[in-house]
Parts: sequence; structure tokens; C-alpha cells
Amino acid sequence: HLKDYTLKGVFKFPIGAAVVKELLEKPEYANTLIKDFSRLSSESDFKWGSLHPSKDKYTFAKADAIVEFAQKHNMKVHGHTLIWAHDGNEPKWVKEFQGDEKAWEQLLKDHIFTVMKHFKGKVQSWDVVNEAVKEGGKYTNSIWYRKLGKDYVIKAFKYAQQADPSAKLFLNDYGQEYGGKKMKELLNIVDEAKKQGVTIHGMGFQLHTVVRMDAAPITQSLKLAADKGLLVHISELDISVKHGMPKTFELPDALAKAQGKKFKEIVQGYLDVVPKKQQWGITTWGVSDKTSYFNKGYANADHDYPLLFGKDYKAKWAYRGFIEAG
Ligand code: XIL
Repeated sequence: HLKDYTLKGVFKFPIGAAVVKELLEKPEYANTLIKDFSRLSSESDFKWGSLHPSKDKYTFAKADAIVEFAQKHNMKVHGHTLIWAHDGNEPKWVKEFQGDEKAWEQLLKDHIFTVMKHFKGKVQSWDVVNEAVKEGGKYTNSIWYRKLGKDYVIKAFKYAQQADPSAKLFLNDYGQEYGGKKMKELLNIVDEAKKQGVTIHGMGFQLHTVVRMDAAPITQSLKLAADKGLLVHISELDISVKHGMPKTFELPDALAKAQGKKFKEIVQGYLDVVPKKQQWGITTWGVSDKTSYFNKGYANADHDYPLLFGKDYKAKWAYRGFIEAG
């Protein structure tokens, strides 16, 4: 019986969910987290724009509330994210910042130091750089890349290590689960950092995926990271089912089951190829389909059903599939 199990009870590794501070106040959301999850990430409350809205001002209230919730319920916290290479999402003041290379590096360092020191002892791991590489293996043309060149990635890890030597530091990205040049370049960064005496502890696979995608190549890519000796975090898992469906639809049973099977295959693959000591855990990007980021901006949450819990917070086949892998 499904009700005899919980995700965090079945799996030895942390089961994470990315949360939104305001939603923690909703009982059904909070109760689902408390029952099944053992670690929190955050959709946006730890991003530069949320924490650091102007040069000399830091606003920690929302992120602190997430940490407090986690501590109260005996959960760990994963910080997402110190630097987000995806161009254009830095706050305006960063875009407009004037200075030479040294000043830009100082900016990067100050942010990493201030944020990580604030959360020292409370946040056990960080996505230090998110989305550093594009499909095809080129660096993302972020403001950091333009100002500091490729080196900004390894520099960010160097400063992160100085700021909190006990934190586990991750290079997080999307799409490398299909292997190819992108995965290769991410692994190159890990090697290059090592050469320079800088440690990248782990790789985060966002894994925003779709139900029709084969799980086998995903498992293969997880193995490439594991074989490097990296900690492996599936950091933003969700499985979209909307492809080929009308703009709004109710989730058909067959599709719900197919999604459950896909969750099971992905989790099984993770267990198969990532040695226990390297299993940093699996995090889903949200809790319920009702508030999934895939449904953001829509009036109703019936555009997609990517998560483990339905609009009514009931466990879906997706949840059953996840559990069955354990
Ligand atoms: C998304 C959040 O979920 C949204 O709420 C926000 O509006 C935009 O960012 N990959 C990432 C995450 O690494 O930071 C993104 O989060 C989703 C895609």
C-alpha cells in the first residue's frame, strides 16, 4: 500500500523539493513537504536578484524563512544559485555596473562571500554556477563571461570554497543528460578546476524532461558524472506531459501511468549508476502540479502535469513510480 511509504522513508539519499517562500504558508503544500521530503531547494528566493537587490543591500528574509522551515522539520537545504549564467536575469544594477575586470571579479567575490557566510552551517550545498554551458559546448554568453571570460566559472568555485569550506559545491545545468558536447564541456570544467587546485564536488542535472524521452541516455550521462567521482544531484526533476495535447486538458490515466513509469526509470537509472556515496539526492522542481513553474503565468494549472502530486495534492502515478524504484 502506497500510504505505508514515504519518499524520504524509502530512499537513503535526500529527497528534495524546490519551494517558494509564500507557498510554505499553505497547509497542503507544507504538509506534503513535511511528510515526504528531507531537503529544500528554492525556485528563486536564493537567486542574486532576490538576495542582493542593490550593491550594498542584501535581503535575506525570504531565504531565511525557507531555512527556518527546513530546520524546524529536520530537513537539509540546497542553495540555488549563486551565479546564474543565463543571460539577462541579473538585477539592473549589475547590468549597469561600471568597472574594470578587477572590479567585476570583486563583485562576484563579494556576492559569493556575503551569501555563503550568511548561510554557513545552514545550507549544506550550493549550485555555484547554473547554466554555464550551452548546447553545443560553448560557454553561455552571460555578463560574467563577457566581463571575466571563461575563468569566471572556476573563480566562482574558488571563492565559494573560501567562503564556506564545508559546503559541497555544484556545477548545475540542463540538457547535459543527453550527453554530447555540452556534457563533455562540463566535465572539462571539472578537470580544469582540479588542475588549478579548485574543487567542484558535484554535478547537478536539472532534468526538466518530457515523458516521451528515453531514460537510457539519461542514465548514461549520470554515469559519466559518477565515473568522474562527482557527487550527482538530480536537481530540478519534473516530467512534462503536455506535448501533443490541447492547450488545457485533464491528465488522462494512460499518460499519468506513462509518466509514473518514466519517473521510475529515471530513479532506477540513478540508483544503478551512481554509487551510494555519490548520491547527493533527487530534487523535484516544485511539489504539486497546481503550482509547478510549468504552469506559471497561466490562470489554471491544467496546462501541464509535471510533478509527483496533483492539483489536489494527491500522490499521482508519478509518485508511485518514484517510490517503486526504491
Ligand atoms: C525558475 C523558477 O521556477 C521560476 O519561478 C522563475 O520565475 C524563473 O526561474 N532552471 C533553473 C531554475 O535553474 O532556476 C529555473 O527556475 C527553472 C529552470
